Amino acid sequence: MKVDVLIVGAGGAGLYAALSAVKENKDLNIAVLTKVYPTRSHTGAAQGGINAALANVDPTDNEELHTFDTIKGSDYLADQEAVKYMCFEAPKIIRAMEHMGVPFSRLGNGKIAQRPFGGASRDRTCYSADKMGHVMLHTLFEQCIREGVKFLNEWFMLNIVHDGKRAIGVTAINIATGEVKLIKTKSIILATGGHSRIYWGYTSNALGCTGDGTAAALRAGLPVKDMEFLQFHPTGLRKSAILVTEAARGEGGHLINNKGERFMKRYAPEKMELGPRDLVSRSIMQEIREGRGFKDDEGREYVHLDLTHLGAEKIKERLPQIRELAIDFEGIDPIKEPIPIKPTAHYAMGGIHTNIKCETPIEGVYAAGEAQCVSVHGANRLGGNSLLDIVVFGNVAGKEAVRYAEGTDFAQGGEGKLEDDVKFITELMNRESKETLGDMRNELGEIMFKHFGVFKNESEMQEGYEKLKNLIDRAHKHLGVEDKSKVFNLDLQSTLEFFNLLEIADVLAYASLQRKESRGSFYRDDYPKRNDEEFLYHSMITKNADGSFNYEKGEVDISLYEPAERKY
Ligand code: FUM
Repeated sequence: MKVDVLIVGAGGAGLYAALSAVKENKDLNIAVLTKVYPTRSHTGAAQGGINAALANVDPTDNEELHTFDTIKGSDYLADQEAVKYMCFEAPKIIRAMEHMGVPFSRLGNGKIAQRPFGGASRDRTCYSADKMGHVMLHTLFEQCIREGVKFLNEWFMLNIVHDGKRAIGVTAINIATGEVKLIKTKSIILATGGHSRIYWGYTSNALGCTGDGTAAALRAGLPVKDMEFLQFHPTGLRKSAILVTEAARGEGGHLINNKGERFMKRYAPEKMELGPRDLVSRSIMQEIREGRGFKDDEGREYVHLDLTHLGAEKIKERLPQIRELAIDFEGIDPIKEPIPIKPTAHYAMGGIHTNIKCETPIEGVYAAGEAQCVSVHGANRLGGNSLLDIVVFGNVAGKEAVRYAEGTDFAQGGEGKLEDDVKFITELMNRESKETLGDMRNELGEIMFKHFGVFKNESEMQEGYEKLKNLIDRAHKHLGVEDKSKVFNLDLQSTLEFFNLLEIADVLAYASLQRKESRGSFYRDDYPKRNDEEFLYHSMITKNADGSFNYEKGEVDISLYEPAERKY
């Protein structure tokens, strides 16, 4: 199989990349390979909105303020020129999507509506009720179909193939038939999404957010960046960890402890519930730690998100999905009662290292979206900047990948990698499984949540890393595939995804142990302060053939704003 530009992943980043690529050069053969049907991608779960300084609500807003808020929110770890690029592109890309048909909610004057969001100094988050990601995903997919983008739906990428200098292609399995193929490409865009499923059972992420592209990048010798930074969203539903959008607080929701207090007054007296996510998540956990949370019959600890004072009309108009989720998954109608919530693993700031052109160190290999680390989010992403990041850098990646493909031929080779992958899968299928995948996934989630959660310290992390190493070892020795069929073998796919999760958890744990400070989402009780002297750098990690890691320090671009203490 041969494709000029192959985009792996069909969420917002992948679809926007495909659209830009096809508009750039219709004569190229451009295809999207995706393990799920495109409209089931995790972008569809994004709820509250997308940031752009349109100044529709607050005329004092502008791109410069958006840039500053994002840099401050990142705890000064974001690369500042990259942030500036994203924030200045934002109004243009919102208008482009509006023209494609994205149905934004409107103000009375017909302009795109904007709501307040955490860590933002102005009402800047454009929205479509509480289904922003869903409507973007569907519109982008329609546009891709209209422009003739080809789709390899329900194909699972196994590995990136390159010759040490440039891309050769990818190996992938057709889930419908079980065939493993080498797909030769001139350029590849990895838009495979995040990896918060390493916190299995404690995450807002879809089952498919297993970091497949990031794990493949590690295996291919590409550097990953800032992997220790994993964001906990403050408000996940108590039982399922499903996301309750920040828009619930943007629309005026209150966080309440067991004393009936709006406790955010202790932690962010100015911004209250609209502090940045890292701060709000820590505040909730601190309340629980100090005995001011609630506990249910099954021992789950939580606090309340109270929307009752917003009134039925506003909840039905602005937060219909949240109401539905709270009723379906908690048996609670937020019009009448507060929603039980707790922080949920939500977003990977770290990922595949790229420059601002989405290029990795291997020619022809690009990354975009949550799988990528440019870095525009640094140590903590602001709500509403993820949907923005995926379309802005999806656009860049699409154009750059076309530019590269136009000037090159297909590289030779790759057949050896195909043979290796077929052999690996055959062995896995033939192995008698002595462990159960479901139990192992739960074990992984427990280890990560307990030892690499909102609060961390050296001994907890060391203990967690030992448990993790043991789990990895057992999985490689004992985990096999029970379903031996070739057609839609989801047991095989889930097992391959689990190996990817283990790879990611391993590097995240390793990176966490190297950073002896607290910054943004990464908080250590034993080093509670940010330490710019020693740790204002990007962690850059590559994996050796023997499984060990190389650790380097990457420079942070602080050319626009001097790092300062964050206060909200
Ligand atoms: O809270 C939310 O609606 C999530 C938005 C985001 O992660 O950007």
